[in-house]
Amino acid sequence: METKGTIAALDIGTSEVKLIVGELLGGTLNVLAEGSAPSAGVKRGVIVDIDQTVHAIKQAVTEVERTLGEPIGEVYVAISGEHIQVKDCQGMTSIKGEDNEITDDDVKDVLHSAMVMRIPNELSVVDVLPKTFTVDQQTEITDPRGMIGYRLEVTGKLIIGAKTILHSIKRSIERAGLELAGYVLESLAVSRIAASIDELELGVGIIDIGHETTTLSIYEKNDLVYSTTLPYGGDHLTRDLTYKMNCKYQDAKLAKEEYGVALEALGDPEEKVSYVTINGEHRFEPQSEIGFVLEARLEEIFEMIQKRMTQAGYAHMNSGLILCGGSSSLPGIDQLGKRIFKQSVNVYQPASLGIRHPKYAVAAGMLRYVLSRSTVSKSGFDRAEEKEVVAHGREQDALLMNEQASPAREERPTREQPPKEKKSFSSFFEKFFG
Ligand SMILES: Nc1ncnc2c1ncn2[C@@H]1O[C@H](COP(=O)(O)OP(=O)(O)OP(=O)(O)O)[C@@H](O)[C@H]1O
Ligand SMILES: [Mg+2]
Repeated sequence: METKGTIAALDIGTSEVKLIVGELLGGTLNVLAEGSAPSAGVKRGVIVDIDQTVHAIKQAVTEVERTLGEPIGEVYVAISGEHIQVKDCQGMTSIKGEDNEITDDDVKDVLHSAMVMRIPNELSVVDVLPKTFTVDQQTEITDPRGMIGYRLEVTGKLIIGAKTILHSIKRSIERAGLELAGYVLESLAVSRIAASIDELELGVGIIDIGHETTTLSIYEKNDLVYSTTLPYGGDHLTRDLTYKMNCKYQDAKLAKEEYGVALEALGDPEEKVSYVTINGEHRFEPQSEIGFVLEARLEEIFEMIQKRMTQAGYAHMNSGLILCGGSSSLPGIDQLGKRIFKQSVNVYQPASLGIRHPKYAVAAGMLRYVLSRSTVSKSGFDRAEEKEVVAHGREQDALLMNEQASPAREERPTREQPPKEKKSFSSFFEKFFG
């Protein structure tokens, strides 16, 4: 993209690749084009087939370029999932200029020193997020450039990911004819779009219910304090319906997306979905029955999230919870959330941005995140990507570790077929999670 201040954000999801191009005009996000394509090469948010992923990225790019009328050059890409870790970091450098005035290069140097951390070979630092700087004795500085001193220190956070997974992302982007501008953590991206500054400050949980994953991100004092990913999402809702309706996956998906409701009580028993079973029989499924199946599975997913929130010490958030991701478009999902979480639950409403669907929350959030990121913080992007980590320095305590990195064995149920009654759903999961 040639236009100054315009960027492209790519979300390589399990069910769809999403691409948005936009700009920030006076603090307002202006979406210029959006596109999506079915993604076949991704499992639980991780690329497992580069060829198929390249194909999907190219399809989304073609759609967006058609709207834009110009080619896309570089893209920011979202990263998430089991392999991501966020760690506290600190760095220090001496100020080099003759007049001791802090320059961009000094900031880059101090951020670079903050990345020097002992981490296993298979991991790579993808970004550094400075929180505050210290110049000699003066602390709590947000931008030290132009100040005078001898010693510059920084504290912040490092985003670390698995090299193999990052490599597949980079390779897929390059093979699709694009350049990688930088990685953005999905949890940070959605926070910029789905929640207000006040909510992030007071404390809020954001739940992204995607296709094969559901990610919870907790914010307090404008800081990401906890994040976790569960291997469940809309795919499980669809699969449950295939068993209930004894039909093909695509028919169940259509029934879910067109007629699905998150609460049995919201479904109209008189409203019936016509479909053909796997044996070729014509049948009608009442909307309330579809709601019954979806409610049971969503209830289980929410209960798992609630358990994680309680374990992490964030059972109740001052500003409540916000739902986003494709599966959050099910009517009544906020009511179900309120019932389970016993706090305020709202669905992210993308309409105000001209984005049609909550599945674009990650990509739209990336736009805002990158475009509003301070210049001082952006220095991190230059040095972070694909950086080889030098093996010295003291490793800081892990602030946040995705709990799926070493998932508890009981959280990987293998049985696909859902039992027929709602009660049985509960007992099925209780067996594993209870
Ligand atoms: N109107 C709708 N009602 C119900 N579910 C929907 C609707 N629209 C999309 N979905 C579901 O949302 C899911 C896709 O959401 P999203 O694009 O956020 O996932 P993803 O990013 O591809 O997956 P993941 O985040 O797990 O990698 C699919 O399971 C899809 O069936
Ligand atoms: Mg997603």
